[in-house]
Amino acid sequence: MPAIESARALLKNAKNIAVLTGAGISAESGIPTFRGASGLWKQFRPEELATPEAFARDPQTVWEWYHWRRKLIAGAKPNAGHLALARLEQGIPEFTLVTQNVDGLHQAAGSKAVLELHGSIWTVRCTQCPHEWMDRGTAEGRQLLYCRCGALARPGVVWFGEVLPPDIWREAEEAVKSCDLLLVIGTSAVVYPAAGLVPLARSSGARVMEINIERSPIANIIDLQLTGQAGHLLPELVEE
Ligand code: OAD
Repeated sequence: MPAIESARALLKNAKNIAVLTGAGISAESGIPTFRGASGLWKQFRPEELATPEAFARDPQTVWEWYHWRRKLIAGAKPNAGHLALARLEQGIPEFTLVTQNVDGLHQAAGSKAVLELHGSIWTVRCTQCPHEWMDRGTAEGRQLLYCRCGALARPGVVWFGEVLPPDIWREAEEAVKSCDLLLVIGTSAVVYPAAGLVPLARSSGARVMEINIERSPIANIIDLQLTGQAGHLLPELVEE
């Protein structure tokens, strides 16, 4: 049976689906991924920018990277992959979409049950006081943002070495433990704890299906691999 037919069969039998997405699902919306050929901003790897240490050392460069990404995201629209997942949610009794993305494109596509493991790029947080707020502005360059208390503000996303929002993480674990099918879409599956959701689903008895343009490190623990672009494959899969 061709892989797409096997994938449709898996989907048809599933009553409880969890989805884990990464930057690859937004690539076709024009948002560069973190790793791979188009992944680098200037010469930096994400591990060199998305850390509290990098921000403490050079907040202007970190803000410059976020301003660049915020501007790209502000001009981006959900693609056929995001839209297909929103349609899929409507037909499945239990459905949870867990995303590592901070771009909000799943919600823009109409997905309802979305868990943002790494936060949202539109959230800004004070480095000194508990104040956190939404800021949809798209400042340019190395411009720093400040809190109403006067202290320096930082992007309100989760950085390397930081703890994921505990409630959201718990819900994500519950979703993959209770699902009968996990779809893993457009993630390099190298950043933990998010990547750990795949073996957790597996050990809890779920089937695992992956959509990626290339082979990822989880290839040996999945049941089915669909190789290609999410924006092309997901509509084909969900159409039925
Ligand atoms: P990565 O950039 O690491 O991986 C993107 C994945 O998407 C790769 O495996 C690509 O092969 C795949 N891909 C690219 N285009 C695709 C397409 N059109 N269809 C399907 N797959 C495609 O992104 P993430 O795995 O999301 O965290 O990265 C994880 C985390 O690392 C991010 O959330 C971010 C980053 O640093 C933090 O900033 C904390």
